[in-house]
Amino acid sequence: MALSATASDAAVPAPAVAVRDALRQATSHLHAAVDAGMPLSGPAPSLADYHAHLCLLRDWVRLLQALPGMAERLAAERAALNADIEACERLRGATSPAWAPAAAAAVPLAGSPAQHAARAWGVAYVVEGSRLGGQVLYRRLAAPLAPHPLRYLQGAGAQTGARWRAFLDELRAALDTPARVQAACEGAVWAFERLLQLSRHAAAPGERAA
Ligand code: HEM
Repeated sequence: MALSATASDAAVPAPAVAVRDALRQATSHLHAAVDAGMPLSGPAPSLADYHAHLCLLRDWVRLLQALPGMAERLAAERAALNADIEACERLRGATSPAWAPAAAAAVPLAGSPAQHAARAWGVAYVVEGSRLGGQVLYRRLAAPLAPHPLRYLQGAGAQTGARWRAFLDELRAALDTPARVQAACEGAVWAFERLLQLSRHAAAPGERAA
């Protein structure tokens, strides 16, 4: 889906509690699709699947960085992905699949600076949220994929919950009108859809060498 520029920036306050509910409601079906369709979704993921997962996220983050305001915000995320991809390649003796720009449709960036800023919060919500799923995956895969330390999935480890709560506080403070919440939902849906689009271009689990 292209990001549309429909939301007006009316100065009507949004109830703080509604922000996360709105984002969840807009994206829960997409989360379910991501959960089912990623390289690590199979019953017994291999190191090759983990490598494919990291490469997919690297390409996704690179695409998200093209959005106004996102390049710097996601620089640490991209560096963490690249570091763990290198660790995988050392263990596997394999190299990364090439960046596939054809899979990443161009990003129409119409809209006011305020809309861009609110959409960027929606995109950040998806990236930050993915770290919660990373913790689930880490607990599931640490033993089967040892000795790889799965550093990217470990992320902030025990600090993940606190980091998420701090992010939600910032999100609620930034998305203080219904129009901003609406624009953030568009950004979050757009981010999930780009990930799903890229994952359709990646090899299915089982098609990769162990
Ligand atoms: C890279 C792919 C993924 C993305 C982009 C993603 C995105 C998100 C987002 C945005 C949230 C926040 C939802 C909220 O507001 O509560 C979230 C939460 C969560 N996700 Fe994912 N997720 C991904 C993968 C996964 C996977 C593979 C799993 C399971 C293995 C998973 C399990 C969870 C769990 C358990 C939560 C926490 C719910 C809570 O504590 O309220 N996610 N994810």
